Amino acid sequence: MSVLRPLTSAQSSSLSGMARIPGDKSMSHRVLMLGLLAEGETMISGLLESEDVLNTAMAIRALGARVVDEGDGLWRIYGAENGLLTAPSHILDMGNSGTGVRLLMGLVSGQNISVTFTGDSSLLKRPMRRITEPLERMGGRFDLSDGGILPVIVQNSGHLEAISYRLPVASAQVKSAVILAALGAEGMTTVIEDRPTRDHTENMLRHFGVNIVTEKESDDGCGWVIKLEGKQPLLGCAVDIPGDPSSAAFPVVAASLVKDSVIRLPHIGVNERRVGLYKILQEMGADIRFENSHREAGEPVADVIVKYNGPLKGVTILPEDVPGMIDEIPVLAMAAACAEGTTKMSGLAELRVKESDRLQMVAEGLKKCGVALETGEDSLTIHGTGQPPRGGALVETAYDHRIAMSFLVLGMVTNDPVQIDDSRSIVTSFPIFTDLMNNLGASIDS
Ligand code: S3P
Repeated sequence: MSVLRPLTSAQSSSLSGMARIPGDKSMSHRVLMLGLLAEGETMISGLLESEDVLNTAMAIRALGARVVDEGDGLWRIYGAENGLLTAPSHILDMGNSGTGVRLLMGLVSGQNISVTFTGDSSLLKRPMRRITEPLERMGGRFDLSDGGILPVIVQNSGHLEAISYRLPVASAQVKSAVILAALGAEGMTTVIEDRPTRDHTENMLRHFGVNIVTEKESDDGCGWVIKLEGKQPLLGCAVDIPGDPSSAAFPVVAASLVKDSVIRLPHIGVNERRVGLYKILQEMGADIRFENSHREAGEPVADVIVKYNGPLKGVTILPEDVPGMIDEIPVLAMAAACAEGTTKMSGLAELRVKESDRLQMVAEGLKKCGVALETGEDSLTIHGTGQPPRGGALVETAYDHRIAMSFLVLGMVTNDPVQIDDSRSIVTSFPIFTDLMNNLGASIDS
């Protein structure tokens, strides 16, 4: 690995102006994968050109898609000829991306080819049995490394059968892997989720012409049932990717914390299952508004306007709130550290198996910045004073992009600057983060 690249964030007087947030990461991975399976041309605008997504683009090319990068987020994908994927001649290195590798494991397991996947040192630590377990029930065959981790060989299983599967963890990646495998399986697959997770795979499949039914499991519960028949054709189409609400979360929290801020972020994806953080910030007292709401490619989109509205208040986050803001908990913790009163979050077990153990990294970093907190196995309690924390610390990021960006947001309000040990991970999801924040009025510098 090359040398670390530290960055320092110092107090900002106010944030103002308009910023265009790069495309949604989840949708960008999915549009490439569905483009690979589809007949004809898929025309994409607004693709996120971050390292994670570029690794997926490389993978679909190796699997038989023709991929044309026309510049500025415009891409054309031509699906594999006659719908038949090619077995790559080399190992597919998915870098840092759990979404890339897990969804592709599902997709290729239904396609009569054998593929080997690996990843970077962070991805090599992440659990993969959650993916292979349902896919093996469908007839998929996998050689995982000891401990249920990558590298994995997805064997040519010849034939998959539909299953009915209740997700044991609230994970859109597991749900999507089963759905993508189901496209190559015989019969009707049913996936049941007790807590709704992001539904971009379902929405986008519909946009590609697939008949996929989603309905509530019961009138009073929060469970959802998803059903689709295998072997349906996908038809290439045009997809415009909105700005990523998880990336927008960083300037949104920053503008809620830095006095006198007013920012506008046009064209952000505001899918109900992604905007949990925005709703919680409103509950904490933030002034966040949505304008120009409309739908594109089956997804709701809006401009997000944030105005500083005084100190935030502590809040309680319940386990059922977590899937709707799974990637935003680190930056929410920064807001909680500045809020008045205690914020209690529970149901955070999944945070421990993200790009890093995010619960531990958040807690260690905040403590170094002078914040009082307690952690449990799956909980975090932060005691805010209503004043910005002291800061003045060097925070470790464990090559985790969301930890890195969260602490740079905290540094915009702390009394003394916050330094992160390494900023290189930011390219995995939000390559223009530093310039975008500095253009709004942040002071982030090496
Ligand atoms: C994602 C799902 C989430 C999320 C990740 C992206 C997706 O992971 O944390 O950043 O695109 O499906 P889990 O499904 O493991 O919760």
